[in-house]
Amino acid sequence: MKGVILAGGLGTRLHPLTKITNKHLLPIYDRPMIYYPLDALVKAGITDILLVTGGNNAGDFLRLLGNGKEFGLRHLNYTYQEGEGGIAEALSLAEYFAEGEPVAVILGDNIIEKNIKNAVQSFKKQGEGAKILLKEVEDPWRFGVAELEGDKVVNIVEKPTKPKSNLIVTGIYMYDTTVFDYIKKLKPSERGELEITDVNNLFIERGNMTYEILDGWWTDAGTFESLYRANSLAAAQADRR
Ligand code: G1P
Repeated sequence: MKGVILAGGLGTRLHPLTKITNKHLLPIYDRPMIYYPLDALVKAGITDILLVTGGNNAGDFLRLLGNGKEFGLRHLNYTYQEGEGGIAEALSLAEYFAEGEPVAVILGDNIIEKNIKNAVQSFKKQGEGAKILLKEVEDPWRFGVAELEGDKVVNIVEKPTKPKSNLIVTGIYMYDTTVFDYIKKLKPSERGELEITDVNNLFIERGNMTYEILDGWWTDAGTFESLYRANSLAAAQADRR
């Protein structure tokens, strides 16, 4: 299984912090944000990784990460997303890299306490379709919210005003290669982006989506509040290192 980190976008919710750099290069306690998703993939045993970035500071990722030696990698792949077309558009840029293999995708601002090794293993056994990782949060309206029936996800609603549950879809997804065909069918949402939630709902409709609840804490870091929370959580964890 190959890995894809999505670290594009303009990070406008974090202005003025992101006026002069990419969101994913901002510090989370003692490391740049991008280190955390990269570490999560490597710890799950994924070593063939593509970083999708964009904006005015894309070159800084190369300077920071190089070939990924600090993470025990021999090579890192990079690609560039023009503009702000959304998460699904960024993922479409990984089609040539994936070469028909399944992919584990993580958003560049998602930070986890534990690891996703078991989920990756169980998706390998699943062999096809998709798997998402869910987490209970206090502010579900900020995310894609999952609706469950028994042991199945039956629908995901992106940023609902009245969430049906506290269970949200984290930015960690696993897909077989059909994901790239699904993305080609998408139309831009009201915010003008190709939504990953629409991709996930297509897998759900096909009856080919599984989920797991992520173990340990999880946070995104795309707003001032969540960036601050990410720093506190990472600092507390670093103290225990
Ligand atoms: C994105 C997804 C959302 C998901 C979240 C996780 O939201 O659209 O479904 O719950 O990432 O971090 P965004 O950060 O683009 O608002």
